[in-house]
Amino acid sequence: METENKPINKPIYVTQPSLPDLQEFLPYLEQIWENKILTNNGPFHKQLEAELASFLGVPFISLFANGTLALVTALQVLRITGEVITTPYSFVATTHSLWWNNIKPVFVDIEPEFGNLDPEKVEAAITSKTTAILPVHVYGNPCKVDRLKEIADTYGLKLIYDAAHCFGVKHKGKGICNFGDLSVLSFHATKVFNTMEGGAIVCYDEATKKRIDYLKNFGFAGETTIMAPGINSKMNEMQAALGLVQLKHYDENIAKRKMIAETYRAGLSHIKGISLMPEPKDTESNYAYFPIFVDETDYGMSRDQLYEKLKHNNIFGRRYFYPLISEFSMYKGLDSAKPSNLHEANKIAEKVVCLPIFPSLEHFSVKLIINLIKGK
Ligand SMILES: Cc1ncc(COP(=O)(O)O)c(C=O)c1O
Repeated sequence: METENKPINKPIYVTQPSLPDLQEFLPYLEQIWENKILTNNGPFHKQLEAELASFLGVPFISLFANGTLALVTALQVLRITGEVITTPYSFVATTHSLWWNNIKPVFVDIEPEFGNLDPEKVEAAITSKTTAILPVHVYGNPCKVDRLKEIADTYGLKLIYDAAHCFGVKHKGKGICNFGDLSVLSFHATKVFNTMEGGAIVCYDEATKKRIDYLKNFGFAGETTIMAPGINSKMNEMQAALGLVQLKHYDENIAKRKMIAETYRAGLSHIKGISLMPEPKDTESNYAYFPIFVDETDYGMSRDQLYEKLKHNNIFGRRYFYPLISEFSMYKGLDSAKPSNLHEANKIAEKVVCLPIFPSLEHFSVKLIINLIKGK
């Protein structure tokens, strides 16, 4: 028990990137040095696409240099224009991808249970200019996918999921990226599966995969044919090679995350003023994040006071997602960004702190974080 209250001398951040043993990665580097293929759909890139499609249980996947470029490209793949309905409760790249395509974001409030876009509020925001819905499976918890599809189908809208948080999540017996017209993943260093930087678009037919692959390579559809003003957002061979090694360790990493999440859940479930998100039904989680929500009146301390107290003890949680995207200067002027339109999102953004969770986080550190929150 003594070790549980031992002070933490080294800072613990909200996440620490998982890396394989360097020795395991070196043969892949040697192969790259040997064959001199560094990018442009090289052998590791092809292999990772095949392995990920099978691992995620999806028909087609196209790898990208990062998730943001994959989002920007996904909107071009489906020729999205005009207005797109999206959530303010996400990482800013979700909305920036619209801005980069000259599309007007229309923010719709979230449902309080999981912090995902509230389908019941989507219809009221649809106009003659709306072409798509861009929800986010926040923290890896699935959106209300059936209801969103029903709305998208009724109004003839495309449905593109920002699936940056939910690598490996399964919902209703299938990979989460099987919902919607396209899903976009991030393999950033902070994600449960990382290629240092990286991302992907998941699609369901070969023609779309072809279009994605042209668009991420300047629009080249042949040696002398350019089919569109594409961009350069290809994943390189080093990233792809790292992905192949990381994939081998995915299950063990998720098992460790699960244990940490269970320890937090058991330790923090009955503290007055602290609430947790429920575990999503019919879902195999990836335990990417562990958000807690602080009610100042009941807890006797504000979220920011708790956040500072943790920091003072070398525990660096993150207030994901605060401020809301709709509060940033480039979006604040939009009608849909008004706090009166985003009641739930504003409420949870003021209460949230994400606690450290990563495979190498030690049990005694988790216990210490719990004790600090309990006020011990
Ligand atoms: C929800 C969400 N969307 C998009 C991104 C952007 O991905 P990337 O960092 O790979 O560009 C991130 C995070 O990194 C994210 O959390």
